[in-house]
Amino acid sequence: MKPRTDFVKDKLKHLKSANLYRTLVYNKISGPYITILGKKLVNLSSNDYLGLDSAHHPSQIQSSSRLIAGNDISFEKLEKNLARHKSKNFALVFPTGYMANLGAISILAQKNDLILSDELNHASIIDACKLTRAKKTVYKHNDMSDLEKKLQKKSQRKFVITEGIFSMNGDYARLDEITKLCQKNNAFLLLDDAHGDFVAGRDGKGSADHFRVSKNVDIYISSLSKALGAFGGYIAASKEIIDLAVNTSRPFIYTSALPSFLAELALERFQSNREKNRLELWKKTRYLSDGLRSMGYSIESQSQIIPIIIGDEKKTLEFGKYLRNNGIFAQPIRYPTVNLGSARIRVSVTNWLTDDIIVQSLDVFEKAGRKFGIT
Ligand SMILES: Cc1ncc(COP(=O)(O)O)c(C=O)c1O
Repeated sequence: MKPRTDFVKDKLKHLKSANLYRTLVYNKISGPYITILGKKLVNLSSNDYLGLDSAHHPSQIQSSSRLIAGNDISFEKLEKNLARHKSKNFALVFPTGYMANLGAISILAQKNDLILSDELNHASIIDACKLTRAKKTVYKHNDMSDLEKKLQKKSQRKFVITEGIFSMNGDYARLDEITKLCQKNNAFLLLDDAHGDFVAGRDGKGSADHFRVSKNVDIYISSLSKALGAFGGYIAASKEIIDLAVNTSRPFIYTSALPSFLAELALERFQSNREKNRLELWKKTRYLSDGLRSMGYSIESQSQIIPIIIGDEKKTLEFGKYLRNNGIFAQPIRYPTVNLGSARIRVSVTNWLTDDIIVQSLDVFEKAGRKFGIT
């Protein structure tokens, strides 16, 4: 059997032989100049037509695609750190996590391929799948026998895509089982860990590390806008896959780069002493979820995302209104974000919540639970 990634190598070989292969070269822009590989050049590749992006302003934007003049030197360090964080050879930053999803799946899955996607996957994954000409099949949420059955379908290549910690349920994908099924069926695994990254696993390495299966994930997709408190998205994978993304990923190529000050911010947050905050977050999460459970709420979440499933849409809106009237904002989530009839209040825990605020919130939830007949 040919190694799974041979088709990626073949595509790169084809680009090289047709003189269409591109690589990223880091630069620094200053007014009308751009410094590339230590050489200061006049920049005739900028889109800053009105010259409003001052070189002396701390929020310099450098509006251009990364393959043209937008590849600020700050990306190099950030991407090296993110690759190491995910134990992958390379990482590539996208303007948002949404675009990272669009960009990752679409470079790999083609006609005659099969994508298997968890039914609760985020909209950006669903949209990404739509960009490909592959056959898409949805498997029941975290249901391994359904996934196994659907993996039996004949196809050229198979891709499984799942979130790590599900954004609306707060549960972990069963990555210990999913990785085994992928190995057994020669399927690629793409993991969107927007909510597990920097939170779950050792040192916040993410949900695959939580299950100690990191090396069995082919592509990580994540957001810098959640636990890292910055902005942007990224993918981490082998050199070949990142090379292919640089060359063929339309949501990477045909858009302006993430502003360099945001890449710098992400790097700064990444290098901060996050571990203390991470452990604190898990403590607060336990405090809030145990508190809710002790009142009779049925809480199945395993993470900082704690949904209170109410079901009925109208009742959920009223529940949300009651919370607001009592000083709490927790967003009611309804169809199409979740299935009809599974409306919920999505509570997310952050380190901003002091013990006093958690006690105050629990008090409101206790009264709400009784008023709405939920507890
Ligand atoms: C699971 C998941 N993936 C991707 C994204 C998109 O991330 P970003 O906000 O960086 O575009 C989100 C954001 O809500 C998400 O929940």
